Amino acid sequence: MKNLTLLNIILSLVLSVFAGSALANKAVLLDQTHAAAGVKCSSCHGKAETREAVTMLKCVKCHNTTKLAKKTASMKPTNPHKNRHFDTETTCSNCHNVHEKSQNYCEGCHARFDFVVP
Ligand code: HEC
Ligand code: HEC
Ligand code: HEC
Ligand code: HEC
Repeated sequence: MKNLTLLNIILSLVLSVFAGSALANKAVLLDQTHAAAGVKCSSCHGKAETREAVTMLKCVKCHNTTKLAKKTASMKPTNPHKNRHFDTETTCSNCHNVHEKSQNYCEGCHARFDFVVP
């Protein structure tokens, strides 16, 4: 029976690791953040019967890029909203997804720019 107990311990350890990562994956998505701030589906997708694709133009109607760049100016290791390639106009969706987990676009080429994107 001793082996069985050991197996149980190992199993529960493995399970707790999985539970931990499942929790980490449950990061809050931007659709939830926006809904909580009172932003409706139609504020991004339009009121028409066929949902409009959401371009960067929509994002910057509410989020001024110059102000945004100022807000994150002191961020380390670099400002995600102002860079030498695109200045303040990097395509939002390179990093921010609305209905799925966001990603860090810079990290693919610059490993040291390891910020976490909401
Ligand atoms: C902050 C802007 C924003 C809000 C608010 C928003 N969406 Fe979206 N939605 C997007 C973007 C951007 C995409 C493209 C894929 C992505 O980035 O996740 C998208 C894609 C979709 C898609 C995939 C198919 C398609 O039409 O392109 C559906 C369905 C959708 N949204 C439904 C909704 C519904 C329902 C709501 C309200 C609960 C909502 N969205 C609120 C920005 C938004
Ligand atoms: C109708 C106005 C509106 C539009 C359009 C809009 N947002 Fe927002 N967004 C808000 C508000 C309000 C908040 C909550 C207050 C804040 O953080 O500025 C917010 C918050 C955010 C945040 C911060 C979330 C956090 O966890 O701190 C991000 C990132 C963001 N928006 C990205 C986007 C992107 C990308 C788009 C385009 C796909 C977009 N927004 C379109 C109004 C808007
Ligand atoms: C290179 C990746 C990247 C791109 C491109 C990007 N963002 Fe962000 N964004 C971030 C990161 C990282 C944060 C978190 C900043 C922090 O931790 O304070 C953020 C935070 C935000 C916030 C919350 C700011 C705050 O502190 O209240 C908003 C709003 C936002 N982004 C909107 C946008 C919009 C709109 C665009 C397109 C014009 C855009 N972002 C493009 C990476 C990016
Ligand atoms: C497709 C690959 C690629 C992506 C994605 C990329 N860069 Fe770069 N970046 C480069 C290359 C190549 C150089 C060197 C050439 C140059 O100086 O323009 C560089 C140079 C730089 C430099 C100046 C040199 C240095 O290392 O300090 C900065 C700052 C920078 N990138 C920031 C960013 C930021 C911020 C992002 C995300 C918004 C980003 N890059 C995304 C390829 C990339």
